[in-house]
Amino acid sequence: MNKLCFLSLVIGLVSQSAWAENATTGVGTPSTLQAKNAFIANLMKQMTLDEKIGQLRLISIGPEMPKPEILKEITAGRIGGTFNSVVLPDNRAMQDAAGHSRNKIPMFFAYDVVHGQRTVFPISLGLASTWDMNAITRTGRVSAIEAAADGVDMTFAPMVDITRDARWGRSSEGFGEDTYLVSRISATMTRAFQGTSMQAPNSIMAVVKHFALYGAVEGGRDYNTVDMSPVRMQQDYLPPYRASIDAGAGGVMIALNSINGVPSTSNAWLLQDVLRRDWGFKGVTVSDHGAIKELIDHGVAKDFREAAKLAIKAGVDLSMNDKAYGEELPDLVKSGEVSVKEVDNAVREVLGAKWEMGLFANPYLRIGAAVDDPADRNAENRLHRAEARDVARKSVVLLKNQNDTLPLKKQGTIAVIGPLAKSSMDMMGSWSAAGLARQTVNAYDGIAAAVGDKAKLVYALGSNITDNQHAITYLNKMDDQIAIDPRPEQEMIDEAVKAAQQADVVVAVVGESRNMSHEAASRVDLVIPGRQRDLIRALKATGKPLVLVLMNGRPLALGEENELADAMVESWFLGTEGGNALADVLFGDYNPSGKLPMTFPRSVGQVPAYYNHLNTGRPYRPNDSNYTSNYFEEPTSPLFPFGYGLSYTQFSVSDITLSINKMTRKDKLTASVMVKNTGKVAGETVVQLYLRDVAASISRPVKELKNFQKVMLKSGEEKSVSFTLTEEDLKFFNPSLKYAAEAGEFKLMIGLDSENVKETTFNLL
Ligand code: NOJ
Repeated sequence: MNKLCFLSLVIGLVSQSAWAENATTGVGTPSTLQAKNAFIANLMKQMTLDEKIGQLRLISIGPEMPKPEILKEITAGRIGGTFNSVVLPDNRAMQDAAGHSRNKIPMFFAYDVVHGQRTVFPISLGLASTWDMNAITRTGRVSAIEAAADGVDMTFAPMVDITRDARWGRSSEGFGEDTYLVSRISATMTRAFQGTSMQAPNSIMAVVKHFALYGAVEGGRDYNTVDMSPVRMQQDYLPPYRASIDAGAGGVMIALNSINGVPSTSNAWLLQDVLRRDWGFKGVTVSDHGAIKELIDHGVAKDFREAAKLAIKAGVDLSMNDKAYGEELPDLVKSGEVSVKEVDNAVREVLGAKWEMGLFANPYLRIGAAVDDPADRNAENRLHRAEARDVARKSVVLLKNQNDTLPLKKQGTIAVIGPLAKSSMDMMGSWSAAGLARQTVNAYDGIAAAVGDKAKLVYALGSNITDNQHAITYLNKMDDQIAIDPRPEQEMIDEAVKAAQQADVVVAVVGESRNMSHEAASRVDLVIPGRQRDLIRALKATGKPLVLVLMNGRPLALGEENELADAMVESWFLGTEGGNALADVLFGDYNPSGKLPMTFPRSVGQVPAYYNHLNTGRPYRPNDSNYTSNYFEEPTSPLFPFGYGLSYTQFSVSDITLSINKMTRKDKLTASVMVKNTGKVAGETVVQLYLRDVAASISRPVKELKNFQKVMLKSGEEKSVSFTLTEEDLKFFNPSLKYAAEAGEFKLMIGLDSENVKETTFNLL
């Protein structure tokens, strides 16, 4: 039965049930603002203060509260929604319990659907490497369809924190360092999750996070302080959140960090002035896990009571998994410290979100009827493997390919080596939702499937992922464990060298375990961890062609590896179909087209490393570096710049033609180049347009991405690629935070990465 027929059946069923009142109110009526407001106002009139406060509690399904207690609390009207349950009968039981509560207000069920639900797509940094909004739309849509089919109404995504410090483990969850690219993806993902309507049974509500500036934590250390100028915030860090809101995001998750001394969770300026007044946000705000209580550790609340008071007054609607609102709000209201109006404002948004998710019309919209539950929720036919494979291969970035080492031939003997080669768990990346390692294709299996009996594979582990005991103990406290082979490291390296010696080519799958690029997983170094580097050196010494396949969730410092490897492929964590997608790239069944969404520094000392920096009064000059802004031990340029990525073919870009070189504020300026595939095979590349405002009232970046186009060209084919610019593209926040374009000279650059560009100039009159 398709979901729509199934939906009408459910509507029929629920009208018989405990839900009758609410079901008939909303079913079939369009979500007009008037109807919604009248419905909610009427409902709130019937609610006691305790019931209102109950709606503000978002509880995690987990050890904190056992299932029977959750059901009891829901029936008593003391829980508004839960997260982390994707089991239909469990969600149904909770929804039934809500149906037995006095007001019969439906529950909602949330989950971290970040890059897939059952089918795991590449991690967000990988998705960003596609620079392909169609691929990202497909990812978000499939994720929503699968999550909704698991009874999920809301996702805590997209995560759009701008990240310039690769030490931060959550770099993996975001879309990189660039405001324009991240904003485009933010809007695209939001629309994809929410579909044509949030009330559709296969749509889920997007809750954009982490508002705000979480990616700028000092030193890349998770949860750390953020101190930032207002101009930088407005110009670089805030736009991606706004892009999601403008695309219709139903919710906003508030960040754990403080901003200039004020925690986001108690930040009235952020949650009221910026979010609601300036941006016109109409949805629900959600605190992050335990964040209200953390106001005490931040040093802005003396106790739990004050924390709850600060949060509700700042504008935190839902409190995630802490008891702050439940325990403290009743008395705070009684004493008059918090007004009923302040509570009502939050309740209205929570009920509004439930309305928007279609839950008043049908509380079982995504849960469905028990008779339709899949016999096996992990059934293979619930996955979308073809979509995942296609997006995964688009996420791969070819970093180096000396002497056309790649693509490999499906012949001879191939040594597949490395601690990540056979790891399906790591292939999923962090936040893999309901994905299963046993349904995930690892690198070895993907390569084996691709070569069939045409080539022989030999395998060796080569080394452990790390030998740092401190790191192992720490990381093993997370959900899954790092597998450690107890043999002496040298023995494992020797074994790998033997395997390599029998082969024609060596593919070493190295990098980080997935829990190294995760929440609470910040690093002090960016090199490939542990003895893996010794392994790479030993493999190089065999003289065999060496292909490094990197799996990691952040830019790594790969200076030495770049010297040693003949070819290097950045694969991030590719998800369910990772191994197959990787094999498609390695054997040339797919020509790589990914481009880096974050700068790869030469060493950790270069971070924060980002291409769109200011020039300084003494800019770094590679050939004349004395008394300039640089590091003296190595070149200050990145190893691989933002926007970089190779192909199995070559492309040329012509000089730029402008339609006009003096532009009034009403004009449209068109910049065009001819892009040609000068190599032997068809391929795709991303043509990138950057701008620089040469002299302005505030120092402007050396370049900023303003647009891009992905083009496919056959061998020898040439295409004209044009971009249109308006005054809007030239605007920025001046020192008084006014957003405007200033007259004067602009440099316009077009290229296939942020460094190798053709350049011209024009003037805004
Ligand atoms: C904490 C994380 O910071 C946030 O991103 C996530 O959505 C919540 N936990 C819920 O899992």
